Amino acid sequence: MPTEPLSPLLAPSILAGDHANLASSAAIVEDLGLKWLHLDIMDGHFVPNLTFGPQTVAALRKNSGLFFDVHLMLSEPQRYIEAFAKAGANLISIHIEPTYDHVATLAKIRALGCQNGLVLNPDTPAEAGSPYLDLVDLVLVMTVQPGFGGQSFRRDTLSKITKLDTLRRARGLKFRLEVDGGVDATTGPECRAAGADTFVAGTAFFKAPDRAAFAASIARW
Ligand code: DX5
Ligand code: ZN
Repeated sequence: MPTEPLSPLLAPSILAGDHANLASSAAIVEDLGLKWLHLDIMDGHFVPNLTFGPQTVAALRKNSGLFFDVHLMLSEPQRYIEAFAKAGANLISIHIEPTYDHVATLAKIRALGCQNGLVLNPDTPAEAGSPYLDLVDLVLVMTVQPGFGGQSFRRDTLSKITKLDTLRRARGLKFRLEVDGGVDATTGPECRAAGADTFVAGTAFFKAPDRAAFAASIARW
């Protein structure tokens, strides 16, 4: 049974916000009536950059009703699931590339009351994610090599988005298909056409001359 396409959803990435005042950046998103906030957690090991940890997420949680979409770029994500769940994450995504018990970690995320997500780097094939698709609430296709905001979108990832969407329809699954990295008014619609429904945007959102117009445009992607 084919599933209906999910309506497009924007998840602004606070990585491109004001790190001296992250709460004000989260408030910008919430005040526009948006529902999701993407939070990038980097360990300086799985990716060559560092951001912030559960303490910061918990502090943001105190003043925000947004759905926290927490993207863990960690070599050992299984060690930190509980901390981010307690900090107020609503969805926790883990990368497929490092070696750990992916199935157990995905199950643990749900057991802690969060939605779960599986992330594929640009060079990781759709086939690697295929065995996990019935265990997840979201699949995140990285459209840049993770680690930094403001990079150029990789068009070679579009065919992978289509492959995952095709598998989703064929199996009647309902996970969200999210894209992250270099997503803007040009590349976002290309991802939508390929089958994505959930759009992380850091630079394109926070640096937009008219954020409200940018957010509204997602409905037409
Ligand atoms: C990159 C992060 C992204 C980043 C996207 O490692 O996972 O979420 O914030 O930033 P832009 O939209 O600027 O490419
Ligand atoms: Zn991200």
